[in-house]
Amino acid sequence: MGSPPPHRLLLLLAVAAVLPRSAAAAEGVIRLPRGRACAAPTDPAAYDRPVIGIVSHPGDGAGGRVSNGTAASYIAASYVKFVESAGARVVPLIYNEPEERLLEKLSLVNGVLFTGGSVKSGPYFETIKKVFQYVLDKNDAGIPFPLFAQCLGFELVSMIVSKDNNILESFSATNQASTLQFPNYSSLEGSVFERFDPDLIKKLSTSCLVMQNHKYGISPKTLRENVALSSFFKILTTSPDENGEVYVSTVQANKYPITCTQWHPEKAIFEFGKQMIPHSEEAVQVTQNFANYFISQARKSQNRPPADKVLDNLIYNYSPTFIGKKSKSFDVVYIFS
Ligand SMILES: *[C@@H]1O[C@H](CO)[C@@H](O)[C@H](O)[C@H]1NC(C)=O
Ligand SMILES: *[C@@H]1O[C@H](CO)[C@@H](O)[C@H](O)[C@H]1NC(C)=O
Repeated sequence: MGSPPPHRLLLLLAVAAVLPRSAAAAEGVIRLPRGRACAAPTDPAAYDRPVIGIVSHPGDGAGGRVSNGTAASYIAASYVKFVESAGARVVPLIYNEPEERLLEKLSLVNGVLFTGGSVKSGPYFETIKKVFQYVLDKNDAGIPFPLFAQCLGFELVSMIVSKDNNILESFSATNQASTLQFPNYSSLEGSVFERFDPDLIKKLSTSCLVMQNHKYGISPKTLRENVALSSFFKILTTSPDENGEVYVSTVQANKYPITCTQWHPEKAIFEFGKQMIPHSEEAVQVTQNFANYFISQARKSQNRPPADKVLDNLIYNYSPTFIGKKSKSFDVVYIFS
């Protein structure tokens, strides 16, 4: 085979030239050319240890096959990993815990996530309302506090903002991969889609890269004609259901760091139970962009909770359960009972 080809030799020389002599001696310390160790934070205003609260949903996530306890609630691990994949940790906001506990946990987080699910009334809806009001209050007080609401979460937020529990319409979009259509490119400014490569935006509008799993939604017409909703949200994307009926699939609040999707970004990377879930590299990129965007908003939070209290409340205090053999809905869930 002889000597390496010239371009590889050049590369080897270049690597040798930039490697500091003391690299082997100073193990574990990254040396800059001038010999100073790296100081970690570059932007002192950004908080690099963000924590996200996720509200648990009634049930066990497996139709009672794992737990029939009436007080049981769950968070699919895919939402937790979605948050973790962007450099944040999770505190579960267990929906049926006493209000003092909810408020205590909210004081420990830098943003919240509302998951998908099915329950639209009762104590669960009341907890969602309280947390949503907390999000508005924080931001109104000048404290950045993002919310990312998905599927049921988006539906509940639509009901709360419109003050109309019958605002939702029926759509046929269960277990369906769909495109995202962009009705107004100007509205994407300042939104999550700003960090998308133009090629990926194009692919989103032509290939089915996102996972839908819902029976309800809101049409662009209903959103636009509802004064409360249309002044609160701008429409970023729409999607067609199985019958070609168009619903709003992504919105962003005009004055708040609130993004809602009718679709499920977390599933492309972390759920394999349903055949329709896209897992392509592009679908994964879409998910990663959403996770990175959401956590970038949480890094703007000024909340610096005591580390020991955070540790006491992290979801790591609970063990996830593999339910993928019993249920097609989720592979892994955290169950609270
Ligand atoms: C929960 O109840 C259902 C219906 O009665 C039953 O099929 C299931 O086995 C129960 N699950 C557990 C974990 O006991
Ligand atoms: C498109 O979005 C921009 C920015 O949000 C907005 O000012 C404009 O009115 C929108 N156009 C239409 C036709 O909705």
